[in-house]
Amino acid sequence: MSTTATTTKAKTFEEGKSQTFGERYETKDLITFDENAVYGDWRDEFHKNGCVVIKNVITPEKAQYYADKQIQWLKNFDLGFDEKDPSTWTADHLPVSFKGGMYFLYGSAHEKMSWEARMEPAVRDIFAKLWGTNELICSFDGMNISMPKRTDVQWSPWPHCDQNPRRKGMQAVQGLLNYSPNGENDGGLILMKGSAKLFNEFFAEKRDSADHEDAPRRSWSSWTCSSSARRTSSGSKTAAASSSRSTTRTRTRADWSLFAVEPGDFVLWDSRTMHYAKFPEGDQIRNVQYICMTPRQFADEEALKAKKWCFENYVGTTHWPHCNVRSAAEKPMRNGELCPKYRTEPFEKPEVTDDMLRLAGIKPY
Ligand SMILES: [Fe+2]
Repeated sequence: MSTTATTTKAKTFEEGKSQTFGERYETKDLITFDENAVYGDWRDEFHKNGCVVIKNVITPEKAQYYADKQIQWLKNFDLGFDEKDPSTWTADHLPVSFKGGMYFLYGSAHEKMSWEARMEPAVRDIFAKLWGTNELICSFDGMNISMPKRTDVQWSPWPHCDQNPRRKGMQAVQGLLNYSPNGENDGGLILMKGSAKLFNEFFAEKRDSADHEDAPRRSWSSWTCSSSARRTSSGSKTAAASSSRSTTRTRTRADWSLFAVEPGDFVLWDSRTMHYAKFPEGDQIRNVQYICMTPRQFADEEALKAKKWCFENYVGTTHWPHCNVRSAAEKPMRNGELCPKYRTEPFEKPEVTDDMLRLAGIKPY
């Protein structure tokens, strides 16, 4: 593990304010992987491309259970949303989301369904295999429920990566558990295969950061540590390209790929990978839970304390489990006013077990 981290001085939690705790800026891989190792499983593709689809991590039936739970969660707000009536697939009938489908407020990160997904043995096994330890902690990340053909959402590609260029090497590996059929017309995650290894080169030059019209507010963190690629209007394969020489090289060594996935599949990507989410264009609703885990040993006391506060207050975080713990304590605003459906607890609370507390980072292993 690197010894080059810097940690900010201890902070205290402020009511209703999103803050970042345990900020660390490591400058090399947190684990040294044997470049010549052959695993004989998905790890070979992951280490080659920086991203991989892992098939059938949960059964299609279990995926349907989670998809149904997510739809029910939307209906719980009593805003008139009906998954069978596209005329209700508008912001007025839905809780407040980011980019037309990402949910992380209203206690959603701590809904029973979110914890059940994180606790799935096969999901934990992915990260255990990746990091070589069972002593993992998870992020309190959100979910994505995207309705296709939304007429009230202006969508355009926002290519970015979820690791601050000040962090070098493999610091976090993100994932999503997919619940619904996700073919070519169903939007989803577009990843630039191979871009993780070009991260340092790409950011060697000064880049525009969060300059896209849809980029999250600077106050939002997974995204203050994000850096968007150059603005593009097409979302084409040149989305990450600029006129610079280094990016021309990047373009020839990494390609944009839509990761078509089936219910129960898991997508895993190095946080240095350039990516964006494409809005669904067919008839299929997209249902996804974002999940990320790293070894507990990566976390410092400030990060663990922040995780405990978030857990106990049903507050979400970004995808970072062990550092850069951003409390998503901001309130959902609707037409400039607090959403009348604002809530600070899940509709369905998880059953808290020692196993969960260890995964949450509250209890030591
Ligand atoms: Fe992202």
